[in-house]
Amino acid sequence: MSEAIAVEQWVRVARVEDFPSNAGACVKLGDEQIAVFNFASHRDWYACQNMCPHKRDMVLSRGLIGDQEGTPKVACPQHKKTFSLIDGSNLGGEEYSINIYPVKVEQGFVYIGAGSASN
Ligand code: FES
Repeated sequence: MSEAIAVEQWVRVARVEDFPSNAGACVKLGDEQIAVFNFASHRDWYACQNMCPHKRDMVLSRGLIGDQEGTPKVACPQHKKTFSLIDGSNLGGEEYSINIYPVKVEQGFVYIGAGSASN
């Protein structure tokens, strides 16, 4: 499971209309690639690292999003490992997990929370 991020700064990454509905897109936050999902059917947004921890490929933004017993999830397009978009845990019970980032939408723009891990 990923650690919670203490938001130190909200970074404006793009306009809402730049993101496809019910799918992901990749943005850069500093040196890091972030997968951002406009989960329109849930009326919510999620963000996670773009790198799948299985083979370390930058692919999660192209993954399929869905719902597993009420938990929004993304399935890696490579080998279909699935991750919770709430806490980053692997929903197949494997050791892989991903970092999750806070997202907010204000006045037509999407912001990602940047900061440090906190516990
Ligand atoms: S690279 Fe993502 S599941 Fe294998």
